[in-house]
Amino acid sequence: MAISKVFLLFLMLCIFGIDGGIHRISLKKTESLRQNLNSNGLWNIYLKHRNEYIRVKIANLSNNSTDGEIDEVLKNYMDAQYYGDITIGSPPQKFSVLFDTGSSNLWIPSKKCSWTDVPCYFHNKYDSTSSSTYEADGREMEIKYGTGSMKGFISKDKVCVSGICVDGQEFAEATSEPGLTFVAAKFDGILGMGYPEIAILNNTPVFNKMIEKNLVSEPIFAFWLNRNPDEADKGGEITFGGTDSNRFVEPITYTPVTKHGYWQFAMDSINGTSSKIACENGCQAIADTGTSLIAGPKKQVEAIQNFIGAKPFMNGEVK
Ligand SMILES: *[C@@H]1O[C@H](CO)[C@@H](O)[C@H](O)[C@H]1NC(C)=O
Ligand SMILES: *[C@@H]1O[C@H](CO)[C@@H](O)[C@H](O)[C@H]1NC(C)=O
Ligand SMILES: *[C@@H]1O[C@H](CO)[C@@H](O)[C@H](O)[C@H]1NC(C)=O
Ligand SMILES: *[C@@H]1O[C@H](CO)[C@@H](O)[C@H](O)[C@H]1NC(C)=O
Repeated sequence: MAISKVFLLFLMLCIFGIDGGIHRISLKKTESLRQNLNSNGLWNIYLKHRNEYIRVKIANLSNNSTDGEIDEVLKNYMDAQYYGDITIGSPPQKFSVLFDTGSSNLWIPSKKCSWTDVPCYFHNKYDSTSSSTYEADGREMEIKYGTGSMKGFISKDKVCVSGICVDGQEFAEATSEPGLTFVAAKFDGILGMGYPEIAILNNTPVFNKMIEKNLVSEPIFAFWLNRNPDEADKGGEITFGGTDSNRFVEPITYTPVTKHGYWQFAMDSINGTSSKIACENGCQAIADTGTSLIAGPKKQVEAIQNFIGAKPFMNGEVK
C-alpha cells in the first residue's frame, strides 16, 4: 500500500476558522510509559518532532451556520494515546474512548465479555440491562486494527459526547479483545471518526449522526493535541461543530480529501533540512489520530528514521 499513515511528523490539515460556542471534553495523561521512553533515550528525539495540530474538516457537508462548537478535552497518555470521556445509556454509563480518525465504528467493552478476555477486566463495561434507552440489534461484528482487534455484537443506545446526545446510536459491545494492545490501553473503547464509507456493518459514525440530527452547527470537527509533557491534565481538545481559534495560528492550509474512507490527502513531499527525504514524487497520506506510528514504504520510513536520528529497539525495529 502506498499510503503513509501520518501522525507525528506531518500533520497538515484543513479547517474553517469559525468561532462560536464551544463544547470541550477533558483528557488525562499518565507518565509511566514516557518515563520508559526517557530511560531509553527516545523521549527527546520524539519531542523534537512534535507537531501541535491536527485539524480536520469534513468535506462538502458544510452548512455555514455558526452557533455551537463543542470541544471535548482529551487526555494524553504518553503523548501516544489521546482519549476522552463519553457516556452511553440512560442513566449514563461512562467510558473513555480514543477518538480515532482512522476508523469509523464505535465500540466499548461489554458486561457480557468473556471471563477469559483479559482487557475486559481493566476497563469499564457497558451493561444494557441497566439502560432504559437500550435497543437490541445483535449482529456480530469484528474489527481488525493495525495493532489489535475486537469481536462483539451491535447494540443501540443513547450516546453523549460533551453534552451532545445522539439517540439510537449503533455501536459494538466487545466481548473479546485479543491482543495486549487493549490491556495496556488507558481507554475503554474506540470512537471512530473516519467516513461512513469504511464503517463496518454500515453503522453510521457518531459524528455523522450528529450532523444528520442537526446537533452541530457545522459539520466540522478539529483536534488539538497538546505535546507539552508537563501539562498532565490537558492532553488536548477535540472540537465538535467548528474550530477553536485559540488552538491554531493562522493561516490554515486547506487540502482536499482525495478519497472518502480515511482522512486521505495528497502530500507533496517529506523534506529533511534541505531536500526531500521521502515521498519524493508526491504520495497519498492519511491523518490518523488513533495511531502513534508513522507507517509507509520501508525505504522511505528508514530515510525518515535516519533523519531524526532514531535508534532501533525491539528486535531491531524502530517503533
Ligand atoms: C455537495 O453535496 C451535495 C449534496 O449533499 C451535492 O449536491 C453537491 O454537488 C456536493 N458538492 C461538491 C462540491 O461535491
Ligand atoms: C443547515 O441549516 C439549516 C438552517 O439552519 C437547517 O435547516 C439544516 O437542517 C442544516 N443542515 C445540516 C446538514 O446541518
Ligand atoms: C460557506 O462559507 C464560505 C466562506 O465564508 C463560502 O466561501 C462558501 O461558499 C459557503 N458555503 C455554503 C454552502 O454556503
Ligand atoms: C521541499 O524540498 C523541495 C526540494 O528541495 C523544495 O522544492 C520544496 O519547496 C520543499 N518544501 C518545503 C515545504 O520546504
